[in-house]
Amino acid sequence: MDTSIIIALDYSNKEELDHLLDRLKQERLFVKIGMEAYFQYGPGLIERLKEQGHRVFLDLKLHDIPNTVGKAMKGLASLEVDLINVHASGGRRMMHAALEGLEAGTPLGKNRPLCIGVTQLTSSSEEMIKKELNIALNMKESVVSLARLSKDSGLDGVVSSALEVPLIKESCGNDFLTVTPGIRLEGDLAGDQNRVCTPSKARKLGSDYIVVGRSITASMNPVSAYEKLKSEWGTLHEINR
Ligand code: C5P
Repeated sequence: MDTSIIIALDYSNKEELDHLLDRLKQERLFVKIGMEAYFQYGPGLIERLKEQGHRVFLDLKLHDIPNTVGKAMKGLASLEVDLINVHASGGRRMMHAALEGLEAGTPLGKNRPLCIGVTQLTSSSEEMIKKELNIALNMKESVVSLARLSKDSGLDGVVSSALEVPLIKESCGNDFLTVTPGIRLEGDLAGDQNRVCTPSKARKLGSDYIVVGRSITASMNPVSAYEKLKSEWGTLHEINR
């Protein structure tokens, strides 16, 4: 079973979230819970997903002073999520504190959640980071520089667009995880995303995990959209081996 497709359960309505899970209930999924669902349903939702046997990426993108991030991570680690993240732009000390908090909060005998750094959001464009954030580097340079900082700070990988994966792997090594949102099936709307990519292109570029939200959740038929994604992602996987 291929669980390297992470489904973003971006619902602020529990019935809709449960409906999707119910339709996919034969599968052991890798799901992403972001701010939208976590801030409404809290730790209970994570506990339920874990009980159902799903893997969970808790996408809260922490970004605060090191002490606060460390303590927050200690609490979140007790939920036994599989993957969690921080904004890499919070810096080295913040990322160290995140890892220390996760180590301290991981229950005895369990694995610490993998921790990845958000580089530049996939909704950001080069023009936006230049004009609004005054970042002098171009998009690719900025993403690689934040990936390098994440790696040097001990993180397990990064969130980026699939388009930047080859450069990240070149700079940080093949084992450094790349988790890539901004995935769209051919013909889907990009919405607020800027640096988008199809699943098969993401696979070719070397992405380890793709994160897919609206291509599944906004589809008229989410189950067949998920199946389509799996076959696009899976077929190439076989060819590559
Ligand atoms: O609906 P869509 O497929 O665009 O959803 C992408 C998901 O990935 C959203 O939950 C969004 O918060 C998340 N994400 C992102 N870009 C990042 C990090 C996370 O789009 N850099």
